[in-house]
Amino acid sequence: MQKNKARIFAGFIFLLPLVKRERIHVRRQVTKIDRRTKDVKAFFDRWKIYQKAMKNNYMFHREVYAILRKFLQKNFRQGFSLLDLGCGDASFISKALRHTGISQYRGVDLTDVALGIARENMKKVKCDKKFIKGDFAKFIRKNKETYDVIWLGLALHHLSLRQKALFLTKCGKIINKNGCLMIFDPFMRESDDRREYLRRSLKVYTKHWRVLTPEEMARLFGHIKTSDYPEKFSMYRSLAPRTGFRKVRYLFKDPFGIHCLICYYV
Ligand SMILES: C[S@@+](CC[C@H](N)C(=O)[O-])C[C@H]1O[C@@H](n2cnc3c(N)ncnc32)[C@H](O)[C@@H]1O
Repeated sequence: MQKNKARIFAGFIFLLPLVKRERIHVRRQVTKIDRRTKDVKAFFDRWKIYQKAMKNNYMFHREVYAILRKFLQKNFRQGFSLLDLGCGDASFISKALRHTGISQYRGVDLTDVALGIARENMKKVKCDKKFIKGDFAKFIRKNKETYDVIWLGLALHHLSLRQKALFLTKCGKIINKNGCLMIFDPFMRESDDRREYLRRSLKVYTKHWRVLTPEEMARLFGHIKTSDYPEKFSMYRSLAPRTGFRKVRYLFKDPFGIHCLICYYV
């Protein structure tokens, strides 16, 4: 009871200044990008909070990565390549990839903590592997390789809309014929603005993410408020033809209307 009150209180404290802050963010979006990437890194350097959330399936990792495994088995037989951007500790993708015909894996992430675990987790996947520390938006701009699949698990929503559009354009150019870009991310509902999205999502986390301590919850809320900029599906659909993709479709939507998986086809 006490814990729950503390959680709700943490939620209010972080929600109060939203309206004002949101306006400031829109104006400063371009200059604040590097700062935002630093904030994201600082949060994920404390990998334990995220690990707890994954273990309890709060973001629907089990369902989403089961879909990924089946999708890869059905559409890519032997010898495909996959670029995993914001790979984290690769705990779920390593299990999904074990049962596929992957021949080349590249994992990119900001944080050493997660990359160290990712190397271990990926040991059971027999293929050519590389782990790259850095900002995936910069990596993708300089990248010279092509891939059958580009996978982004819960990392794209930290970019501004402009950065997302540039990112998609670059992906459209480096995905092989019959390949795809798969994005697992939080989404806004069509009726949401960012303020409503934050109100809605923080309510869900407060009610359901019960294993987090009040301190962890406060950190999570701080991270979401400063670093999460999800889009609506209609925005991603409108970007498809402008960024070199034929179409985009949903592969998964969670029951709370937050975490979704979409797939862009070249
Ligand atoms: C929520 S975790 C997701 C991890 C994993 N993909 C999954 O599905 O569970 C997001 C990861 O993306 C990484 N990340 C966020 N922004 C990034 C950026 N601009 N460049 C590289 N990695 C980034 C974080 O360090 C973190 O490990």
